Amino acid sequence: MSLTERIAALEAELESATARTAEEVEKFRVAMLGRNGAVTELFEAFKQVAGEEKRALGQRMNQLKQAAQARLEALKSGVEASGPAKGSALDMSAPALTEPLGSHHPISIVRARITEVFGRIGFTVSQGPEIEDDHHNFGALNFAPDHPARDMQDTFFVEGDDRALRTHTSSVQVRVMESTRPPIRTISPGRVYRNEAISARAHCMFHQVEGLYVDKGVSFAELKGTLDYFTKSMFGSDVTIRMRPSYFPFTEPSAEVDMSCSICGGAGCNICKHSGWVEIMGCGMVDPAVLANCGIDPDEYSGFAFGMGVERIAQLIYRVPDLRMYWENDVRFLDQFSAATFRS
Ligand code: DAH
Repeated sequence: MSLTERIAALEAELESATARTAEEVEKFRVAMLGRNGAVTELFEAFKQVAGEEKRALGQRMNQLKQAAQARLEALKSGVEASGPAKGSALDMSAPALTEPLGSHHPISIVRARITEVFGRIGFTVSQGPEIEDDHHNFGALNFAPDHPARDMQDTFFVEGDDRALRTHTSSVQVRVMESTRPPIRTISPGRVYRNEAISARAHCMFHQVEGLYVDKGVSFAELKGTLDYFTKSMFGSDVTIRMRPSYFPFTEPSAEVDMSCSICGGAGCNICKHSGWVEIMGCGMVDPAVLANCGIDPDEYSGFAFGMGVERIAQLIYRVPDLRMYWENDVRFLDQFSAATFRS
């Protein structure tokens, strides 16, 4: 092989040289520029070349040496940038690689908190099916046959069936009363469905928690005391509640519960529409006819019930401005919530 060919071959070799570790860089240095390295040896051979040819090749030889040195530097800095420092196998000072961790959904966090708060005063958790029959969702709860809630406008019916997606979790109180003897103290968290156009303030699927207490001598005062305990546990001891007369087919008397606005402290803001109060649930004494429909003697027992929307409670805690955000599954939204919101 002529000297010119050897230079060309070495140039190609330099070009394609790689190194992944500091040891490989050192190997490259020895193989090229070491005492018996290929570039060094070529210089020995070059010494033998005479006259005219020597002058012609000299410049290429110097370029080759510079290229070898430049390649060595490049390999060195490549290894230093990507690999452990100073040739050690493990860099103990490098930041640890972290795995992204999931977090609980805000609705799950709030539902779990509600369950815990009622659990402390003896309420169990009951569940029922999301596809319900007319009896459990409406009939046993005293909805008249022509009640507008039974309308297709409000309810999703299951095709070819007389069943529908439950419109509230009150259906579970019917199931519990039908299958359990009092005393009954239970809450029923779950999904409910209504035929609503989806917007910032309404969704066709949301969550409710129903509560039911049936025993001998249950009073409206106990209902108010229970809900006062609940709201203070959920929002802080400085909130207060008030009850406004209302109507539900399954409770008599019925009330709507307002809480002093936890966001402005009652001074007035756009969440409470400057009234100082926000509506948080419906409640009442279980209608004696409903007890009877479920096989419980209303002369012996009385009870109270309440129902709240979980998204509504979560909105007051987290100030989520648009209901749709709960179900878009945007990780930047979901990442912001933590059970540490509640400290005791
Ligand atoms: N079921 C009612 C609704 O979906 C909420 C409700 C109101 C439940 C009053 C109750 C109650 O148990 O007593 O709007």
